[in-house]
Amino acid sequence: MRLDRWLTMLGEGSRSEVKTWIRGGEAAVDGRIIRDSALSFDTEKAELTLRGKRLDGRVVRHVMMHKPAGVLTAARDPKQPTVMDLLPGVYRSIGCMPVGRLDKDTTGILIFTCDGELNHRLLSPGRHVDKVYRAVTAGRLGPEVVEAFARGMDLGDFTAQPALLTILRAGEETSLAEVTVSEGKFHQVKRMFAAAGHEVLELHRRRFGPLELDPELGEGEWRELTEAEVSALRQAAEGRENV
Ligand code: URA
Repeated sequence: MRLDRWLTMLGEGSRSEVKTWIRGGEAAVDGRIIRDSALSFDTEKAELTLRGKRLDGRVVRHVMMHKPAGVLTAARDPKQPTVMDLLPGVYRSIGCMPVGRLDKDTTGILIFTCDGELNHRLLSPGRHVDKVYRAVTAGRLGPEVVEAFARGMDLGDFTAQPALLTILRAGEETSLAEVTVSEGKFHQVKRMFAAAGHEVLELHRRRFGPLELDPELGEGEWRELTEAEVSALRQAAEGRENV
């Protein structure tokens, strides 16, 4: 990547600002001052410094967040806080985007990636990337709901694929269940429970494909994925396309 574009992507300054800095000898790559903005470097390997300060030059990054309730899964919103607001600005400038969406009131694992192709593949219905949710529902869940989920459900505008429902606690007032779905339609889990006659009171995603929510992450906290986690995610995205 060109040096001027690289520094701009990292959010260090505007294109014209960084060009001036580079001309003035303020940027160095691998210990050498570079005055030509058009020279290109490997962003994942080369060591970049600006005014003697070492920068984290990676522009391909992947993040796991424990999404809190009350924030939108959107790149930006004029009125409401979004998940992007919980990350340092550099993640926005290098193009990290959430993979799919959780409702405003849903908590749990949300993955971000700067790799648009990976993002697209993980969401493709043919890849069958499983997501595991814990739901607190109104009313007592019984075996008939498990069977309805297992059959697949007609939700009007689409038929939800068979889903695995495990009842963890069935009470008079509320129940707790775990559900595994491979699709990601809008409000899918809530709509499936609604079709079975149960309102979802709380929804939490604890797994996305091969990745389990890191128990060390409190609501609103995030960390970058490890190399092993990125490979597992890439492997899940390579899953057989059968649509
Ligand atoms: N299904 C829903 O209904 N809501 C979510 O946030 C995720 C899945």
